[in-house]
Amino acid sequence: MLDSGVGGLTIARAITARLPAINLHYLADDAGFPYGGWPEEKLNRRICRLLSDRHRDVPADAIVIACNTASTRVLPRLRALLPIPVVGTVPAIKLATAASKSKMISVLATPATARSPYLRALIKQFARGFDVSVVETPDLAAMAEGHFKGTAVDRQRLARDIAPAFIDACGRRTDTVVLGCTHYPLLLDELQAAAPWPVNWLDPAQAVASQLMRVLYPSCLIGGPHPIPATFTFQWTSGTAAPELQARMRELCLGSVPSSPDRHLTTGVSA
Ligand code: DGL
Repeated sequence: MLDSGVGGLTIARAITARLPAINLHYLADDAGFPYGGWPEEKLNRRICRLLSDRHRDVPADAIVIACNTASTRVLPRLRALLPIPVVGTVPAIKLATAASKSKMISVLATPATARSPYLRALIKQFARGFDVSVVETPDLAAMAEGHFKGTAVDRQRLARDIAPAFIDACGRRTDTVVLGCTHYPLLLDELQAAAPWPVNWLDPAQAVASQLMRVLYPSCLIGGPHPIPATFTFQWTSGTAAPELQARMRELCLGSVPSSPDRHLTTGVSA
């Protein structure tokens, strides 16, 4: 799995809940954080290099890009480059159209995701007849990253940042907000508190986990007669693994999985 930081843990927790025997390696490209402002070509090259090096060193059965910014930019190139399935994470537009009654949907996303042709194509394909507002929230990933690491959230700023996603016009109002960055579900409590009215908050994590199951099954290890001990390892591209984060990561990703003496969490350094 790859993300620019801890946001992809929101995908990892859905995966470990569905595939408790999986051997999961999480690569946090924190040296490249935030991805949201990177020029496209540079980001493409960086992610392709990171993942092809990683796959050469420790071959995987599949790769999950647990990041909307990376997925909406680099998926086709990665799929052409790597000999294994690559599962992406993209804003849950289709789910949003099923959830919305008012037919007014907003998408919160990093600038790169918000401006991507990929997102425009998803909206065109799945949200015909819906009013979709795409709201760039350039500071939210850093806010979520900080929140996970223990920094208090500035609620006024958060409320200001998300306000454009709440539209009340002509007797209709936004009832569904797509969390178009994997960091944002880490802020869910704060988002709910800052929202001017209650909405459906859509996180694609379950859909990504289902897609990974489809890709791996039947070779995945669930219910096998000789399950290989599951492992969950972390690497940080900056090389600075913060030890105090380990307990939080374990709790977030493995909270719903019965504890196993074989399951462990380590940190390490990547290229
Ligand atoms: N977690 C990421 C995403 O889903 C990226 C955040 C960032 O690095 O800007 O878009």
